[in-house]
Amino acid sequence: MTDLGPIAPPERLLMGPGPINADPRVLQAMAAPLVGQFDPFMTQTMAEASELYRSVFRTANEATLLIDGTARAGVEAVLVSVLAPGDRVVVPCFGRFGHLLVEIAQRCGAEVIKVDVPWGEVVPLGRIEAVVAEVEPKLVGIVPGDTSTTMCQPLDGLGAICHRHGALLYADVTASLGGNAFEMDAWGLDAASAGLQKCLGGPSGSAPLTLSPAAVEAVRARSSVEAGLVDGDATRPPAERIRSNYFDLGMILDYWGPRRLNHHTEATSMLYAARECARLLVVEGVEGAVDRHRRNGAALAAGLEGLDLRLYGDQAHRMHNVLAVHIPDGVDGDAVRAELLETHGIEIGTSFGPLHGRVWRVGTMGVNARPEPVLRTLEALGRVLGRTGGVEAATAQYDQEAHP
Ligand SMILES: Cc1ncc(COP(=O)(O)O)c(C=O)c1O
Repeated sequence: MTDLGPIAPPERLLMGPGPINADPRVLQAMAAPLVGQFDPFMTQTMAEASELYRSVFRTANEATLLIDGTARAGVEAVLVSVLAPGDRVVVPCFGRFGHLLVEIAQRCGAEVIKVDVPWGEVVPLGRIEAVVAEVEPKLVGIVPGDTSTTMCQPLDGLGAICHRHGALLYADVTASLGGNAFEMDAWGLDAASAGLQKCLGGPSGSAPLTLSPAAVEAVRARSSVEAGLVDGDATRPPAERIRSNYFDLGMILDYWGPRRLNHHTEATSMLYAARECARLLVVEGVEGAVDRHRRNGAALAAGLEGLDLRLYGDQAHRMHNVLAVHIPDGVDGDAVRAELLETHGIEIGTSFGPLHGRVWRVGTMGVNARPEPVLRTLEALGRVLGRTGGVEAATAQYDQEAHP
């Protein structure tokens, strides 16, 4: 092993469902020097990250912070901190990541009631309300942009429904935040978590998260201070204590908040990355970034149709930043992906479960939500398939946007 050189990954254009290429400015931020955990610079950077993510989530929530870990860590932190064994939770489920919420909530000991629709569709709000009214859950958990099917569930109105029936509303916005409209406060959400590796344009490894005052109250009721951390006895653990130390959002809030009670050792380089992702988004303007994803997504969709590929799912509810197309009959989907990667250096994805090998998922997000990567991908995919018309159709779509 002593003859191994420094790491030298191949150059790839990542045009799948995420991760995508990190913005070079984010990678540069990650190379900044480390400081100590209690250095004023560290605490200032944490405060700046909180403030920036309030803008990204569109919220005034004081409790806005980062969980160290990939997006799934954010999901797990919310669910394990809010749900005690026996609590009821409703999960509208229309793809793999809805199933993930179900699984994690079940591991918390919650009683999970699923509202299923076939993959490729979204769940009508009326159906969710009927179930919520019947079971009166503590929490409704939903994945508005389920990357596995590329469908985008409308959330406007769901907060009011949940609050009418005494439930908190949580959304896993990992795949949609920054590329599709999301209004934490205006839509009445109580908790949301994300990851960096999609529209936020960073590497995986940090999970921005925000909690409303009502969600903080639910967490605080189950949290306590770790023994040995404060002078005297730590607070007595409540009966239904949060069953994870690492993901105890009460402890993490005490770490990020004015008490600055130590918890884990903050992943400093990921903090820098997350701060830079949010800073770039705020400088661009969140609405501008969403519109950029919409325009490039529309061009990608037009280009794929120009290659005579059929878009998958309910097109009225398509995500802006990633879309699925049916793999044509007689075409070996994996062989096409392998040739795209090996010959053109471009990665696209397939999907999971019932869609594995039946669709390709192509994304345009973060720094790759620009015409150049979209057109390069369409050109290469056309070559591999022996088809033309993709670049022309996408270009026509861009022109139409520019000169309506
Ligand atoms: C909607 C959604 N939730 C959760 C995850 C899990 O994220 P991670 O792999 O960063 O833990 C993903 C990953 O693609 C996702 O798309």
